[in-house]
Order: sequence, then C-alpha cells, then structure tokens
Amino acid sequence: MQYNLINNITPNAAKGSAIFGIFKGANISQFSYAFDKPELTKISNIIKSSSFQGEINESISIYETLNKNFEKSYFIGLGEKNKYNEKKFLKAIKKAADVCKKENAKNIYINLDTFSHKDIKKDWAVRNISIKFNDIEYQYNKTKNKTKKINYKINKLIFLFRDNKSINKKIMNKAITQGEAISNGIKLAKELGDLPSNICTPTYLAKTAASLGKTNKKLNVKVHNEKEMKNMGMNCLLSVGNGSEEPSKLITVKYTGANKNEKPIVLVGKGITFDTGGISIKPSNGMDEMKYDMCGAASVLGTIKCISELNLKVNVIGIIASAENMPSGSATNPGDVVTTMSGQTVEILNTDAEGRLVLCDALTYAERFKPKYVIDIATLTGAVLVALGKVASGVLSNDKKLTEMLVNSSNISHDYIWELPLWEEFQSELDSNFADIANIGKRYAGTITAACFLSRFTEKYNWAHLDIAGTAWNEGGQKGGTGRPVSLLSHFIINYAKSL
Ligand code: BES
Ligand code: MN
Ligand code: ZN
Repeated sequence: MQYNLINNITPNAAKGSAIFGIFKGANISQFSYAFDKPELTKISNIIKSSSFQGEINESISIYETLNKNFEKSYFIGLGEKNKYNEKKFLKAIKKAADVCKKENAKNIYINLDTFSHKDIKKDWAVRNISIKFNDIEYQYNKTKNKTKKINYKINKLIFLFRDNKSINKKIMNKAITQGEAISNGIKLAKELGDLPSNICTPTYLAKTAASLGKTNKKLNVKVHNEKEMKNMGMNCLLSVGNGSEEPSKLITVKYTGANKNEKPIVLVGKGITFDTGGISIKPSNGMDEMKYDMCGAASVLGTIKCISELNLKVNVIGIIASAENMPSGSATNPGDVVTTMSGQTVEILNTDAEGRLVLCDALTYAERFKPKYVIDIATLTGAVLVALGKVASGVLSNDKKLTEMLVNSSNISHDYIWELPLWEEFQSELDSNFADIANIGKRYAGTITAACFLSRFTEKYNWAHLDIAGTAWNEGGQKGGTGRPVSLLSHFIINYAKSL
C-alpha cells in the first residue's frame, strides 16, 4: 500500500474512491470544496431521497458524481455531532474500510477533515485509519481450495487535508508507519490463530518465529526442544505435552534495538496449539475453538514483528511456551505431581488448567534475562469471559506502575483491559495436601486464582498477566482471530521506548 498526504488534488492525480464523514442532519454544502454546485445539488437530492440518516454504521455510496478524481463517493454516518468521540470515530473508520473492501476500492481518498473533532488528535486519527485500512486486507484463505478467495489489496491510501497549516507531515507520516506496523503484527497474530491445529503445531510456531527472525538483524531466535527443556528442569511445561505426538517447544525471540545493557521487556505467550483438556477432557461442543489457545503466543510474535518493523530503540524478548494438550496413554493424570523449574512441586488436579503449567516454567526461565518488566499473555480462563465478556482482557499484576502504563496504552489503543485484584486472600485456594501448590482453586474467581498460581513464579520481577480468553477471537458467524492484544502491547512498547 502506498500512502500520500495532500491538501490539493491535482487534475492528473490517480482516480479513486472518496470517503467523507457526515454527522446526522449535517448540511451537504460543507463538501463544496470537493464538488461543484450542480453536483452538490445532485448528491443532496440522492441523500434526501434515501434512508440514510447519518447514523453510526450507516453509509451511502454515490457512483455518478463528477469530481474529476472521484469515481465513487462514500458518505459514512458519524452519528450526532455532540456525541462524537474516539469510539465513534473508530466505528466510522471501520465502516469506511468495510465499504471499500466490499466495493474493491483500489485508490482511496479519505477526507480527513470531515472525520475531525476537536477532542481527537490528528496523529491518533491517522494512525488508526492506517491500522484499519491495512487490517481490512486480512483474509483467511490458507486452507480454502474451491471457494472463491477474496484477495483485497489497496493500492493507494490518500489522506486529504484541507488546512495544510495544521498538519505536521513528519508526525503524520510516522503515525501512518506505526499504524501499518501494528496492523502487520495484528495480521500475523490473526493468521496464526485462524490456522487449524493440524497445521499450526508447536513446531510450526517455532518455524514462524525462525522466519520472522530472518527479517531483521536485531532479531535472534532460539528454539529449545524437549530434551533441552528436560535438562533445564521444565517438567511442568513438559507434562502438558506428554499425551501428544507433537513435540513441545520453548521459543525465544530476542529483539535488541537498544544498548545491550538496557533491561528488556519480556513477553511470555501461552502457545497451546490445541487444548482438548487432556484427561480432564472438555465437552465436544465448540471444542474447535481451542485451536485459538495459542493466541497469547501469536500476540507475542505479532508484537515483535511490529516493533522490529519500526526498528524501535528498545530491548524486547518474546518467550513462547508451546505444547498440545491431548489425552492418551502417556498423558498426565489428575493427581500427578510434577516438579517445576523453580523447584516448587505442583499437584495437577485438573489437566485442563494447563496454560498455567506451561507458563510457570517459562516465567522462571524469564528470570535469566534480568527483565525490566515481564508481561504474560494467555487464553487462560473461561472465567474471564464471565467477568469481562468479549470486550476487555483481564489484567492482574504485582506492580502498580506497570498496570498504570498498560491501562494508559489500553486507553490510547482502544484494545481494552480491566484490572482484577491479585489479593493474598485468594492465594490459599491453591493449597494442596500433596504438593507445594495445586493447579486449580475452587469454583469462584477462576481468573484470579489462575493469576495467583502464576504469581508464585514471578516474585523476582515486575510482572503483569493478561488473560485474553475473551478477546483473542470472535465466535459464531464472525469466527476468527482478532489479533488482540497486539495493538495494546505495541502501543505500550512504542510508549516505553520513548521514555528510554
Ligand atoms: N484454554 C482454556 C481457557 C478457555 C476456556 C479459553 C474457554 C477460552 C474459552 C484453559 O486452558 C482452561 O481450560 N481453563 C479452565 C481452567 C479450569 C479447569 C480451572 C477453565 O477456564 O475452565
Ligand atoms: Mn485447558
Ligand atoms: Zn488452555
């Protein structure tokens, strides 16, 4: 995709589709800069005779307007002017991108001033347009043979500003580049999530990490096999893959963008490529969605792809703990006790609480990098869906400052998170008669007791846990990966890099 920032369309500029935002009840005469008078009258009559009201999620396409450069014009509803805000902006831009995809628009003129508002910063707006119009190109085709494949690609995205003086082109171009990189990270995470478990195995994740590693000299990828993990004492991680034919993998992706003495941010991803529950087997209804149980790992790779494309001056290390959770004669049984890399023993009362079992050893492994912050990302509990639905990821942390920074990035990216308490009152749920810790609590507060389990392995550093079980994919007709929380994490690291 090519980008352009212009305030004046020259007559020989590319022909394309124009996008305008329009508030409910607004006057068409505001578009007199783009159309001559007879055209405006025509547009006004078409809109008046249609059902278009200018509400959010509404649009009207006009094919016969005679601006020399605009072959087609799309008017996107913005709702009521006094209720307009960032959320409405994002909805309108999503609608605009959907319309462009449906119409296969190749050259797109987005009339930025018509979407503007005093409360919305211009670079934020441009970054988010860049994210959404790149994201709309994502289409899952990999395992489709005979169905018609959609391969939508935008040729030019042209940002039209009328008042050129208010635009700092350098800042705007940076916002465009950031948006594109964030979207590339999101696309990678979506694709890895959407791939079925017979393709996306732990070995496949390792190969994906290795090829990502080849794209930038600042990246260095290392994959540990089962034997090496055994030697490091990662019995708890290994116990999860015991029942599977697929070998487990521990993948580290190092991005060294700053001085090598600069403490890294470590991202730890849950990479269960399929979660049957193991011997504590899940009900079969909807079990296919457990191919998404590696979305934490996918978001780690997506985020590293983004920051590496941006060549950020920061050090980040991704650690992926990957296994397939299967029942079989060699699988772990409920009641089995394993010794973790930290030396603590775990009574595995439920083999379906496997995410924490792979993460705990990866979190102990993270200590060796002397991290500034460790953030783990995991589709960890069904309980987080009960608490926060599919809107917000849960965040639980042992560090106030880190939580604040993440919440701030969530507010900017609109990739929402919400804090749940990690109080000591919940810890006793994990008491065991036969080991140092049990891997499950009782019935209530499942997201918190899962985080309590992880907290036993993160005492040596500042840590936050993101439970993305509700946000990593959409269900039903729209079933598909969301790429969350790549945007949140990318915003967080972009911001953190600025502070170095
Ligand atoms: N991968 C699941 C969590 C999950 C469930 C994600 C539903 C998305 C939708 C995780 O491994 C799991 O099975 N967790 C159990 C924990 C329980 C056994 C303590 C759960 O949430 O039911
Ligand atoms: Mn499970
Ligand atoms: Zn799981």
